[in-house]
Amino acid sequence: MDFQLTEEQKLVRDMARDFARNELLPRARKHDAEGKIDPEVFAMLSELGLWGLTIGEEYGGAGMGNLELSLVLEEINAACASTGVTVSVHNSLLGAPIKRFGTPEQMQKWLPGLATGATIGCYCLTEPNAGSDAAAIVTSAKRSGDGWKLDGTKVWVTNGGIAKLAIVYARTNPDVSKAKGISAFLVPLDTPGVKIGKTEKKTGIRGSSTTEIIFDGVELPADALLGEENKGFMIAMDTLDGGRIGIASQAIGIGRACLDASIRYAKEREQFGRPIGEFQAIQWKLADMSTRLDAARLLVHRAALIRDAGERVSEAAAKAKLFASQACNYAADECLQIHGGAGYTDDFEVERLFRDARITEIYEGATDIQRIVIARSLMA
Ligand code: CAA
Repeated sequence: MDFQLTEEQKLVRDMARDFARNELLPRARKHDAEGKIDPEVFAMLSELGLWGLTIGEEYGGAGMGNLELSLVLEEINAACASTGVTVSVHNSLLGAPIKRFGTPEQMQKWLPGLATGATIGCYCLTEPNAGSDAAAIVTSAKRSGDGWKLDGTKVWVTNGGIAKLAIVYARTNPDVSKAKGISAFLVPLDTPGVKIGKTEKKTGIRGSSTTEIIFDGVELPADALLGEENKGFMIAMDTLDGGRIGIASQAIGIGRACLDASIRYAKEREQFGRPIGEFQAIQWKLADMSTRLDAARLLVHRAALIRDAGERVSEAAAKAKLFASQACNYAADECLQIHGGAGYTDDFEVERLFRDARITEIYEGATDIQRIVIARSLMA
């Protein structure tokens, strides 16, 4: 087994690291406070090709794989998790399913805009009564002329307020059991009948946009259907397999930022006449944080390589997300503890990291959902 990155992978990681340190880190607090990402950051992500990292070169993307995406997401998230989730969702939850399930015409139509960031993407699965139980969605798409008419409300849509294109999951056959009657649709968000609803005020990742989206009698052409009719739940789940690798990479990035902040503070802060980093109690915390994050990175890179090899990655991605999000929250908790009272104020970045870390155990499948996916795979 080769644990070394190729020269190209090191280059893309270092490019993302420089961008994250020089451009994102100085803006992270502002993104959090203002509830939005600086428009200049969107332009820089375009210039660096990070919106289209995994989109094929023939469509204007960088043609890279999930491992490269994971390396980039770790760097971005170590600086600004709001920007991190925005880029992750765009790449893994919209670019990827079009690439995997789209017709040549759909790819030609949508991938070039997604690759440059001219079109930002979002993923509409969750509904008020269908969160962890995703197959319970009630948004409907009924035949209308040659096309479809879409009605329903989606919630917790990451990028909802900034996206131009959504993948929307809707029930196309109400007469069959839950997962079997769902289809996927590509919906431009300037279509009449689409309304962006409430913006969520979140505990963390506050710079990212999370909204409700309402579809009220939205007429769609026949070619809005992605993949086969009534096979959309499989697309939703396959897409989340990839997305979970992205969120696991986010978790490592946030966790790494917590570790770095803890090391810095442990060297600076003096108590009982010496830096607190000289106490074994603090050293053990640092050792455990680092070990868990390294183990998480191995699981995440393994999952990315399995996905890139074209094999089913559900179990490996769920393990990566489960472990990485827990390692991240452990690191955030210990980081705050090491900072003591100072960490409980907004004088230090740990307060933001602690809030950002928490979502990694919730979205793209909560921790217990990952356990379900893993256990079902073991028992199959
Ligand atoms: N790939 C391909 N097919 C899959 C699959 C996968 N990963 N997972 C399931 N399927 C197929 C199954 O094989 C099955 O097909 P058959 O009936 O033909 O055998 C069908 O899909 C139904 O599968 P299940 O019986 O497992 O479905 P379920 O209703 O029991 O649900 C679940 C399983 C794992 C709990 C699923 O509902 C789930 O993942 N829930 C969590 C939802 C989630 O992660 N939401 C995140 C929202 S997006 C988000 O958070 C983005 C963001 O903002 C950042």
